[in-house]
Amino acid sequence: MATATTPAPRKSLWQKHAFFERNSIWLIIGILLVISVGGLVEIVPLFYLKSTIEKVSGVRPWTPLELAGRNIYVREGCYNCHSQMIRPLRDEVERYGHYSLAAESMYDRPFQWGSKRTGPDLARVGGKYSDEWQRQHLADPRSVVPGSIMPGYPFLAESRLEAADIGQDMKVNALYGVPYTEEMIAAAAADLRTQATTDAADAEALQQRYPGAQIRDFDGNLAFVSEADALIAYLQALGTMVDFKLYDDKANIR
Ligand code: HEC
Repeated sequence: MATATTPAPRKSLWQKHAFFERNSIWLIIGILLVISVGGLVEIVPLFYLKSTIEKVSGVRPWTPLELAGRNIYVREGCYNCHSQMIRPLRDEVERYGHYSLAAESMYDRPFQWGSKRTGPDLARVGGKYSDEWQRQHLADPRSVVPGSIMPGYPFLAESRLEAADIGQDMKVNALYGVPYTEEMIAAAAADLRTQATTDAADAEALQQRYPGAQIRDFDGNLAFVSEADALIAYLQALGTMVDFKLYDDKANIR
């Protein structure tokens, strides 16, 4: 006579899961394993790509004067109120111009994309206003934009630009892969002065090193190179390097 044996009941998936629910350490390990899959799928391929930034013609490293201006931009915390990244959304493109390309900030260390827009995006502010407007606006924003909440920076025009170490700064940038050559670094101090004056003697060499660099007296005061000279040179260069007419209209979201 066969004895009736009842097979041991199979554990359902849910019951197996009870193991994790009762052991918090294993639950944490399980969670880490699962979410790291998503991270790895996104990150690992980046190590096998030659470049994650599409090549775009026209983008060049900052001139010494623009780089000094960028340092002042960072020092004064302009990024707390201004972003430099136009997103590919219709309202942004209509307001600010072509959306930002990765290549446009590839020589920016650190980048100035920003996440806060108390003021407008500045990625393409270059050429939007005259130097005179920029000077006035920096010294006293409400004198040109009534109701502006931007603070004034009147001291910039009065402060001599301290840029004796701009060559060192370029060397460090070169270590990070910004293509500053020995020649550019050696000429840094001279190029900086040349760009902020109306002395045309060295302008050609500067233009060759930095195609499209704007050379003039940005702060309207030839007595000395001021911090305003550097900052305005930087602002006037923002977003002007890529000629978007060369690219397919379809690239523009409209
Ligand atoms: C407290 C926030 C705040 C800070 C800090 C700030 N800004 Fe502004 N900025 C604004 C606001 C708001 C506007 C828009 C009103 C106006 O034009 O003044 C503006 C406008 C501007 C504009 C004109 C943009 C356009 O397209 O019309 C420029 C250029 C500018 N800021 C540069 C700077 C620079 C350079 C610095 C740092 C030295 C700076 N801002 C710091 C708030 C700020």
